[in-house]
Amino acid sequence: MVVICNLLPNQFAYTYALNWSYFCLEYPVQNSNVDTGNAPNTAANHPATPHEQIRVIEDRASGLKAVIAIHSTALGPAAGGCRRWKYASMQQAIDDAKRLSTGMTYKNALAGIGFGGGKSVIMADSNVKPTALQLQKFANCLNELKGRYITAEDVGMGVGQMVSMAQHTKFVSGIGVGGIGGDPSPKTAQGVFIGLEAAAQYQFGIDSLQGLRVVVQGLGNVGFALCERLAAAGVSLFVCDLEVKRVRHAEHKFGAQAVSLQRVLSTAADIFVPCALGGVITEAVAETLPVAMVAGAANNQLANENSGEILLQRGVQYVPDFVLNAGGVISIAHEYHVTRSAGANADGSNDVNNTPDSSLGEKWVSDRISEIPQRAISILEVARNTGCTPDAVARRLALEIVNAARQSRPLHPAHAA
Ligand code: NAI
Repeated sequence: MVVICNLLPNQFAYTYALNWSYFCLEYPVQNSNVDTGNAPNTAANHPATPHEQIRVIEDRASGLKAVIAIHSTALGPAAGGCRRWKYASMQQAIDDAKRLSTGMTYKNALAGIGFGGGKSVIMADSNVKPTALQLQKFANCLNELKGRYITAEDVGMGVGQMVSMAQHTKFVSGIGVGGIGGDPSPKTAQGVFIGLEAAAQYQFGIDSLQGLRVVVQGLGNVGFALCERLAAAGVSLFVCDLEVKRVRHAEHKFGAQAVSLQRVLSTAADIFVPCALGGVITEAVAETLPVAMVAGAANNQLANENSGEILLQRGVQYVPDFVLNAGGVISIAHEYHVTRSAGANADGSNDVNNTPDSSLGEKWVSDRISEIPQRAISILEVARNTGCTPDAVARRLALEIVNAARQSRPLHPAHAA
């Protein structure tokens, strides 16, 4: 039994179906002011860009509680990973999905991959994996959205879960089909590394990273792969993770020095590399972080815009996360466009502006990843010349791209229907 609730700014419409096992609350918020940007930890919080749609899912039969936030489909289907995380409340999950999906709009716009911005979160207790039934229910929700939102891996979700979902929906990527795509983390690490290297060269006037002190927070899929590259480049590596075994592994494999959770934000270094969760650069942290540059993979590192201002005032170079960490979604986009997008929409059309020629194969991916360093430098350059924060410059650039597309492009057919 399905209950769907649509909330429009000035209208409440509840549709009750035949039984009460599935509850779906929806906010189609296009052109509304529902997105207040008042969420806690609303990283650089994008206040002027309301979401197109937010779907809240509570399925009693499976226990699935999830949120799908579609921020923008101006450039194509809203794409962004599915995060499994322990949230204290549904409101926290909604806030996180909104914050993350907005960042995806910026990231995908700058990367030029024919995707808009979206994100989903599944509420879960720590270490409890989603069941097959929950993944199926989630996949059903993707089908109901008819291609407006494409999901993939994020924190707490891996290739296995995406493969499970793919049995029930085609609106999923990051699976690895015929050697194309799969786990996006190595590509994310690749993009972060080359972007960080270029930014360091720009900032410090150096030729190589050799000898720099670099602190990496978070040794998961991206952080660990990044450490491998940083170690090979000859940096002095300091690492931190909630999981001690990951720290030990990095000590053993890269000769890294462990830093405690308490000391990671007070360890003096040239570069701080956030690769855990977002919101790590609070105003208080920005005031004291003893580094010259922040450049990492974590989404939404700045807890708010003021954190970026404080870093700027202190002369700490911040390289916007959504510029550096686009490698993964570039790979996701390639896999999706090449293997799954055909006929993705309800009307049978292919809703991708920028579909790569499949004959280009991996070159399409490597070409776009190789653009990350130059994009990062251009943004740092504009920021330096204008006195704005790099984060503000990057967001403005991304919004220009989105707004230009919005002028010439109606809403996704599934939404307009
Ligand atoms: P992951 O879940 O594999 O790794 C996260 C790691 O951070 C885990 O080892 C966890 O124990 C650690 N961690 C969590 N809180 C911590 C804390 N307070 N202090 C120290 N360590 C902590 O996640 P993944 O895939 O490596 O992603 C890392 C970040 O990069 C996330 O913010 C994610 O959204 C972002 N990102 C990931 C992409 C990908 O391709 N996987 C793409 C773009 C962004």
